[in-house]
This record gives sequence, structure tokens and C-alpha cells, in this order.
Amino acid sequence: MKELLTKKNLEYAERTKEIADKYVRPAAAELDRNQTYPWEIVKKLQEAGLMGVWIPKEYGGEGDGIRNLCIVIEELSKACGGVGVAYAVNALGSFPITIHGTEEQRQRWLPAIAKGEKLVAYGLSEVEAGSDAGSIKTRAERNGDSYTINGDKKWTTNAGAASIYTIYCVTNPEKGTRGISAIVVEKGTEGFTIGKEEDKMGIRCVSLHEIHFKNCKVPAKNLLGEKEGIGFKNAMMTLDKARPGVAAQAVGLAQGALDLAVEYTKKRQQFGQPIASFQGIQFMLADMATQVEAARRLVYAAADAIDAGATHYTKISAMCKLYATDVAMKVTTDAVQLFGGYGYMKDYPIEKYMRDAKITQIYEGTNQIQRIVIAKNLLKESGSS
Ligand code: CAA
Repeated sequence: MKELLTKKNLEYAERTKEIADKYVRPAAAELDRNQTYPWEIVKKLQEAGLMGVWIPKEYGGEGDGIRNLCIVIEELSKACGGVGVAYAVNALGSFPITIHGTEEQRQRWLPAIAKGEKLVAYGLSEVEAGSDAGSIKTRAERNGDSYTINGDKKWTTNAGAASIYTIYCVTNPEKGTRGISAIVVEKGTEGFTIGKEEDKMGIRCVSLHEIHFKNCKVPAKNLLGEKEGIGFKNAMMTLDKARPGVAAQAVGLAQGALDLAVEYTKKRQQFGQPIASFQGIQFMLADMATQVEAARRLVYAAADAIDAGATHYTKISAMCKLYATDVAMKVTTDAVQLFGGYGYMKDYPIEKYMRDAKITQIYEGTNQIQRIVIAKNLLKESGSS
């Protein structure tokens, strides 16, 4: 795997691994049990200069692109999937600004995000708008130099920790997806409240809430791109850029589970020998390792396409998300199997990997949606018959 990495990639991996080994791994079980947000770890990531890896240099970030972002996410997720997403979601939340923000908007919000002083959330999903993101109902009406927002968002990752929220709202109900706009709402704005915290199966340490807008008045200068109607495209383009991050989280979870399984099967004695000496076990390990490596390479392929400035990466981005997250589910489930009865119990960290992996097949577009996106683009590329 190392032959794939540049000097800079390796530096990022090592710097993150240090934090993961020292602060994430020892805290993971307790953060999971109590569903507590990993503030201490975010502080360490901030001190290590890792909060702005993907943000361009001119806006205070490192300007080191999506591959390095994915490498950091993978290293964190090897130790804890919840910490992995608590970090990655800041990229998801800031992409709408890097994609369509005006120069003034980028200068206003990105430097604080790059320093880790402000965390971000992405508010698209609603109670009745999950996969069908175009059917959102949250309404923003313009009155002079402000918008009044009314509505509710569901499953907003990072909601309890963030200070900046990109909220997708309907500004023109007659225009369907072309009537959707993206508006940045800052924490503390009157009429904006953080609602119920969800009790999750996995990734338990990241905060995930409903959020509510009741006559919430936001300055019109917070309309992304200062243009109505570009919100749905912005949401889709953001997801295209962010999905390799979910895939990297999945690779990290799969690799983390595989590493533990290798270690365990070499130690665990049955029938008078380590279970790793049985071919049935070896075949499982071999398949797991091969799938993880294939997934990682697909993540890099997508990240590299984005970093190289490709104009079309929707398909490869969906492919890496689909493949890597299915691999994560399979590999983490197999890892539990290799731990046997012990794997099913909370005494060992392995069951957490399986719980954390499940969400990766669901959020940032279910894997059924990824297949729709892949097929649509595949058929489009092949031209009309
Ligand atoms: N880039 C740019 N534009 C795009 C695009 C893309 N990738 N995909 C679609 N568009 C444009 C289309 O070209 C079209 O534009 P025109 O109006 O100019 O024709 C417009 O958007 C509408 O496109 P569709 O007709 O294809 O839209 P649709 O309503 O059929 O939906 C969908 C398509 C792919 C299913 C979309 O709804 C989707 O991606 N759904 C999944 C939503 C999702 O991923 N949610 C995750 C929420 S975030 C989350 O989980 C994160 C978290 O908290 C951690």
C-alpha cells in the first residue's frame, strides 16, 4: 500500500496515526458508550494543523486536497468510526462554500473552519426527504435584505458541535429542484434551535440532531453564491466531493477490524493451535485484505480525479462510496465472526467496528442511490442509442 503514497501522504498518515493511537483508541469505547462528542480529540487535531487539509491555501487551509483528507479520515476511522466522521463532516459542511461561495463568503467563513475554530454541519435531509433530496420543504422567503427560514432538518451530523450550518431551503416552490437555495446559518441566530439528539447504533460519539427553524431571520448575504436556485446542484456537487471521505471512513473501519482480526487469530488457540493456522480462517483473512486494498485504491482513484481538477467525477465518487462501504460491512462482520463468541460481546472492541460500518452504507446517499447515480452516468457516457 505504501508504494501508492507520496511523501506528503505518508506525513499526514503518520501525524494522524500518532493522534489516533495516543488519544482516539484509548477513548473510543467510552465515547461510544456515553455518546459524548470528542472535543479533546478535535482539539488535538486542531493543534496538529489537520482541520483545514482540504481547504485552499488562500482561505487559510493547507490546500492539500481530497486524497490527503481521505488519508486523515482513514487513519482516524481505523481507531474509531465516530471520530472519523466527526472530522470528515467538516469537509462535507465546507464544500458548499468552496464550491459556490462568493469570494467575500469564502473569506468570511473558511479561515475559521480551516483553523478548526468553527465546526460545520450540512443540513439537507428532512423527515420526508432522505433519498429524495429534491423534495425538501424547509422554506426560505426573502424580505428585503434578509431571508426568513421555517422548517425542520433531520439527521444533521455534527449539529450539536457546529457553529456554521449550510441549510438547503426552498426559495421558489414552483421551480422544483431549481427552486432550492443554499443558505448559511450561524449558531445563535434567533429562531434556529438544536432539537432532539438521536440515539445511534454506531458512530455514537458524533453529535446528530434534528434542527429547527422558526421565523429564523438570516441576512441575505448568507445566500450561497448570492444566487437563488443553485442549491440543489450545490448539494449534489458537494456530495460528489464528499463521498470519497465516507469511503475512506469505510476503508479505515475495515482495515482497523482486519488488523484486530489478524492479531486475534494468531493468538487464539483452538484444537491445540492458533486458529490462524487453519486454511478456512486464512481464506477469510485473504479475502478481507484483498477487498480492503481494492476499496482503498478506488478511493484514491476518486480523490485523485478531484484533485487533478477533473470536471466529471460523479460516477467514480459514487463507485468508491458504494464499494468501500459494502466492503466495510462485509469485512467488519467477518471480523466479528473470527472473534467468535468474544466478538459478539462488548469486552472486545470488534463489535463496534460492525456497528460503525453500517451507517456508511446509508448516509451521504444510500448505496441504492449510489447505484442509481452510477448507472445514470454510465448510460449517459455511452451516448443515446
Ligand atoms: N452535479 C451537478 N448537478 C447535478 C448532479 C451532480 N452530481 N446531480 C444532479 N444534478 C442536477 C441535474 O443535472 C438536474 O439539473 P437541471 O435542473 O439543470 O436539469 C438537477 O440536478 C436535478 O437532477 P435529477 O433530476 O437527477 O434529480 P433527482 O431529484 O432525480 O435526484 C438523486 C437525484 C441522485 C437521487 C438525488 O436526490 C440524491 O443524490 N439523493 C441522495 C441524497 C443524499 O445523498 N443525501 C445525503 C444527505 S447528507 C448526509 O447523509 C450526510 C451526513 O449527515 C453525514
